[in-house]
Amino acid sequence: MRRAIFPGSFDPPTNGHLDIIKRSCPLFDEIIIAVLNNPDKHPLFSVEERCGIIREILPSVKNGDCKVTVESFSGLTADFARERGATAIVRGIRAVSDYEYELRMALMNRKLEPQIETVFLMAGEEYSYVSSTLMKQVFMLGGRVAGLIPELVESRMREKLNTQK
Ligand code: PNS
Repeated sequence: MRRAIFPGSFDPPTNGHLDIIKRSCPLFDEIIIAVLNNPDKHPLFSVEERCGIIREILPSVKNGDCKVTVESFSGLTADFARERGATAIVRGIRAVSDYEYELRMALMNRKLEPQIETVFLMAGEEYSYVSSTLMKQVFMLGGRVAGLIPELVESRMREKLNTQK
């Protein structure tokens, strides 16, 4: 059984995240999308909302027989991976600029849990500039983000924007 976790903030999930999930499916029997519970960072969506959104989107992402589940976690990613019996941590790399931060994280996670490998997957070129932060900013300022985030995320962001007015 090859089990991986795909950790992140997912605030909100973007089409770049979905692309990484699709690409990781053929590599593993099971992937746990691990949504960080990070209330100190004042996320736009609560951890429950982020998990719920990803669960709703998942059927459109499914790729083969890989079982994909969603869980929230707090604390160290390495601890969560070990507790779930994962042998890999999946992370997406968009551009060279991601590499330094990702390398440091991967090496630290390996120091903490030497038997768990980080697997980097290259996101599709069309998502190389897509980040959750940029998507929130552009959307909140009235810019077009169609094709870059799932439609469900766009409508949930619209609801947030309306309730914040
Ligand atoms: O989507 P993000 O915000 O780039 O994800 C970053 C994440 C959640 C993977 C990273 O911040 C993380 O692993 N946080 C949990 C705390 C932890 O393990 N920190 C040490 C990382 S070496």
